[in-house]
Amino acid sequence: MRIPLSAPDITETDIQAVAGVLRTPHLSLGPKVREFERAISNYIGTADAIAVHSGTSALHLCIRSLGISAGDEVIMPSFAFIAVANAVRYESAIPVFVDIDPQTLNLDPDKVEAVITLRTKAILIVHTFGCPAEMSALLEIARRHRLYVIEDACEAIGAEYDGRKVGALGDVGVFAFYPNKQITTGEGGAVVTNNSEIAAKIRKLRNQGRDETAEWIQHSELGYNYRISDINCALGIEQLNRIDTILDRREAIAREYNQRLCQHPNLKLPPLTLSRRKISWFVYVVRLGDRFTQYHRDWIVNEMKARGIGTGRYFAPIHLQPIYRSCAVPKSALPIAEFCASRSLALPFFNRIRQEQIEEVCRVSIELIQVAEKRCDNRK
Ligand SMILES: Cc1ncc(COP(=O)(O)O)c(C=O)c1O
Repeated sequence: MRIPLSAPDITETDIQAVAGVLRTPHLSLGPKVREFERAISNYIGTADAIAVHSGTSALHLCIRSLGISAGDEVIMPSFAFIAVANAVRYESAIPVFVDIDPQTLNLDPDKVEAVITLRTKAILIVHTFGCPAEMSALLEIARRHRLYVIEDACEAIGAEYDGRKVGALGDVGVFAFYPNKQITTGEGGAVVTNNSEIAAKIRKLRNQGRDETAEWIQHSELGYNYRISDINCALGIEQLNRIDTILDRREAIAREYNQRLCQHPNLKLPPLTLSRRKISWFVYVVRLGDRFTQYHRDWIVNEMKARGIGTGRYFAPIHLQPIYRSCAVPKSALPIAEFCASRSLALPFFNRIRQEQIEEVCRVSIELIQVAEKRCDNRK
């Protein structure tokens, strides 16, 4: 793509840091992993952080360490990345999908209590696209029903709710560092928590079920190899060092898009500010107006691609994915998730996007939406 949907922002300092690790014998379980973990826990404001090789493995370790198992139910949005539900199914537990708030695209707290049963163990809250969920209402429901709160902050590092970083508000929080994220380690993830027992368990499960203090070949749990290398963590340390600049830059890009697209009546733009929240911009997603259908959105995606502009269809609801259709029938209808998913369009969004690229993306998007509008009119 001439203008990609996303692109990592790698500096010469990042490259030097990675090369530096390669000059040492410590490529895994070494000092850079610990340093990255300390940097993450300091930044988020939790007692501990455990670095792992992906956001998916971070989610899975949360489910395992909380003892969520066969037949247990976990409440979550369907308008999310599929790993959220997969992590629950790895333990034969059941994802229970709840509809979203159309403005924040996050779990609608008003719809959560209706699906709580005796088997419900946790609410898995996703801070979609970097916008914090309605935490005070969700935490209150969890407290009343004695449910765990797992915060999926994979798309939201640095976002805040009531002045506190997301990820630190529930029992456990997870982050992901794939190259399309605000900061990257190549592949990588982390769990944060204030609970020292959960942290110790996750540390053990990450490393084949070994006790930290025991002999290398002593395994006291059924664990995994979910380790992350020091090479990845060296990159993560450098990226985290400049996260404030990165988040400011991303916010400025979102503002620029909003300013250029706000005149268009048939586009719903993401809110730049929301009360009690600081947004950490992961992606920039617009929604086509009510008169459009998925057909129009997909046509625009293909036309943009033909012009060398990358876009994304974020997100396809999980309950409509072929692998979930038969096994996770929603207990209630999810009309807002389905409506938003069919009309969402993620535009190119990365730190180094240039002004003229933003201008081109906006110009082409508006042109194509106008053509799509004519098609809608002709169908009347
Ligand atoms: C909300 C959410 N959860 C989990 C993940 C999984 O992260 P990873 O791709 O690092 O496994 C992602 C990845 O994009 C995500 O967006």
